[in-house]
Parts: sequence; structure tokens; C-alpha cells
Amino acid sequence: MFPLIFNAIISIFSYLVTVRLIPRLKDMFIKANLYGIDLSKTRKDKVPEAIGVVTGCIYLITLFLFIPVPFGNSIFQNADFPHHEFVELVTALLSICCMVLLGFADDVLDLKWRHKLLLPTIASLPLLMVYYVNFNSTTIIVPKPFRHWFGFSLDLGLLYYVYMGMLAVFCTNAINILAGVNGLEAGQSVIIAISISLFNLFELTGDAWKAHKFSLYFMLPYIATTMALLKYNWYPSRVFVGDTFCYFSGMTFAVVGILGHFSKTMLLFFLPQILNFLYSVPQLFHFLPCPRHRIPRYNTTTDKLELSTTMFKTSDLNLLGRLCLTVLRTLRLIHWKEHIKDKAVTVECNNLTLINFVLLFTGPVHEATLTKILLLIQVVCSILAFTIRYPLASLFYDPEYFTPVS
Ligand code: UD1
Ligand code: MG
Repeated sequence: MFPLIFNAIISIFSYLVTVRLIPRLKDMFIKANLYGIDLSKTRKDKVPEAIGVVTGCIYLITLFLFIPVPFGNSIFQNADFPHHEFVELVTALLSICCMVLLGFADDVLDLKWRHKLLLPTIASLPLLMVYYVNFNSTTIIVPKPFRHWFGFSLDLGLLYYVYMGMLAVFCTNAINILAGVNGLEAGQSVIIAISISLFNLFELTGDAWKAHKFSLYFMLPYIATTMALLKYNWYPSRVFVGDTFCYFSGMTFAVVGILGHFSKTMLLFFLPQILNFLYSVPQLFHFLPCPRHRIPRYNTTTDKLELSTTMFKTSDLNLLGRLCLTVLRTLRLIHWKEHIKDKAVTVECNNLTLINFVLLFTGPVHEATLTKILLLIQVVCSILAFTIRYPLASLFYDPEYFTPVS
């Protein structure tokens, strides 16, 4: 237990350091032209961007200082040194460090979408290599209803590595596209991290306690530094987290999910991000036009956020675009309006984000309220995730196989 307690204590210190450091470094970012304008405010002040690099660095320093602690016994008592555990810890840090660097590059250089897909894949390679050397277990236990067709277990082989690589790409981008309202990026990440930590705590008494302890080493300092960031990112934002933070967070979650062997449970905590991604697919893959910013529209007179929309001609859409539109319209999942001008039909459709989807139901709301609603959805989804993971999982798996398939 000592390493965990030590980890918790240095996490508190990392919170205090981050809280002090962010205001001091703010002007430095603005001077370096790293700032954004809050699109949902009347005042057009320069808000420092990419502050995630500060929390990312403090997070890494905290864990660098922590590295010797779990191995103290083996070092000082000349016991067998657990090289495989050591390599896991160091490689996890390498992948996270790599993603902080790449995210910062994105904030500074404004990378293209294809890079956003390629970079996390590359950053996850060291991790997959360690997975190969340490476990190389690519067998999954088939859920009970499917055993008739696939048998008891299934060796996915190389496909399992593809899945893990895609998990890293998904986690890094999923947080970045559920963004644009003050406090949302940092808020959702804190809730996911707390959910993962609770799951790890429940599992500390189980057979796979080592993997869950490993995950907690990463989650506690993450929660601490992100809480400090949230303090300044909350409405009205005094700093923006930047893509640096989104990539760094996504990679941290992917790392603990992969090396802690609970990637499926981890994905359950990403339910709002998965829904947002699925809803966004037509715009992300350009079946429907996708503007640079899809965040809600700010109404300066009411000080509230409203649905943001995109206008296009149906005749400009390809077959897939029209199909998406018909399906979404039939299922009543979008706000839709037709404008006829000079016999040409122009369609106005809301941008396909979970944020706008919430606004479809609530109508215009204040920005701080919208963040709270979206974070509440995240919490409800976490509760749902625990319900699926614990009581319902017994319908699909035998209890003794919970750990290997989690
Ligand atoms: C992603 C979204 C984009 C959304 C943007 C907001 C997709 C495909 N991309 O793009 O639709 O508009 O995030 O972060 O879904 N900003 C605010 N208030 C906030 C946070 C950000 O006004 O609370 C604005 C600021 O001008 C800030 C900018 O968004 O400078 C940052 O956008 P950036 O992270 O570069 O956008 P993307 O991640 O490319
Ligand atoms: Mg972003």
C-alpha cells in the first residue's frame, strides 16, 4: 500500500503546484501567440491556449519522481528486480510524453486531420511492443450468447493489436471533438478518470490487483493536475486546455486501459464520447459539410447558447450524404429547416454534436448550465457503465472470467 499512499500525497502536491503555476505562465503563452478568443463571449480578450502542456509536464514530472517508489524493496533488499513491471511503467510514460509533444505540435502548427489519426497510432507503438513482450495475450473470452458460433474463446491475433492501436486513436480524438464549451474538456476527463479510479479501487481486492494498482499510479496525479486545470478552465474560462490536453488525456486513458487489461470497461466510461462520435460521423467523414467550429451559437442579447447550424444545398450532397440526412430526419435526430430562394432549396441543419443534441431538447441555455448538463450526462453514463460492468456482466460471462475479459 505504501506506493499508493505516496502517490496520493505527491498528487496533492502536484495539484498545489499546478494551481500556482498556471496563472504565472498565462502571459508567457499570450506573448508566444498561443491564445484563442472565446467564441461564446461578448468580450474578445486573448485567452491563453494549450495550457494542457503545463498540466502534462507537471503530471510527467510527478510520475518521474514516483518511478523509484514501487521498486524500492527490490532495489534496497537486493530482491529479484521486476523488470517487466518497470518496463511497463517507463513505456507508458514514454507514450504519454510523446502525445504531450504531438498535441503541443498540433496547437502550434494546426495539423491536418490525417495527422490527428496518424500521431496517436505512432505514439502507441512502444506500448503495443511492451504488450507483445510482456503479455502477448490476444485471446478473448466469447460472451455466453455468442459461444454457439465462436466457441468459448477466440484468438484475435494481430487484430487485437489493431484494436488497441485504434483505441489510442479514438481516445485521443474523442475528447477533442466533444469540446467548445467552457470547462467541458477538463470536466469530462476528470469524471472519466474518477470513474476509472473507482473501478480500480473495487478491483484491488481481486486477482488482477497488480494491474489496477498500476492504473491508480497514473490516475491519481492525472485527477490532481486536471482538477487544477479545471479551476481555470471553468466558466468564464481564463485558460483554454488546447489539443495538447485532449491528446494527453486520451493517451493516459488508453495506456491504463491497455496495460491494465480493462480496455472494454474503460470504453464504457466513454459512452458520451462514443455517442458524440457516432452522431458526428456524417460531418467528420464529410458526407455533410463540416465547418471549422461546430460549437453552439452565442446569442449576444440573451447571453445564452443556441443550436449552431450549417447551410447547404441537397443537390450538392453525394449519395451517402443524402442517405445520412434521410435517416437522421426520419429518426427525428436533427433540427431541420428548408429555405427556398429563387427555386433553389437550401437546407439548414444543426451541427452534429452531442452538445447541440442536448440543446435540441433544452432550448437555449446559459453556457455554465450547458456544461453542467453535459457533465451530468457523463456522470449518469458512468453509473450506467458500472451497472453494465457489475450486475449485467454475469449474463454474458461466468464470474471467474470477469478479470481476463474486463
Ligand atoms: C474541435 C471541434 C470543433 C470545435 C472545437 C472547439 C470537431 C471536428 N472539431 O476542433 O467543432 O469548435 O473543437 O474546441 O468537432 N473555444 C471556445 N470556448 C471553449 C473552448 C474553445 O470558444 O470553451 C474556441 C476558442 O476559440 C479556442 C478554439 O475553440 O481557441 C480551440 O479550438 P481547437 O481545439 O483548435 O479546435 P479543434 O480541436 O480543431
Ligand atoms: Mg481542440
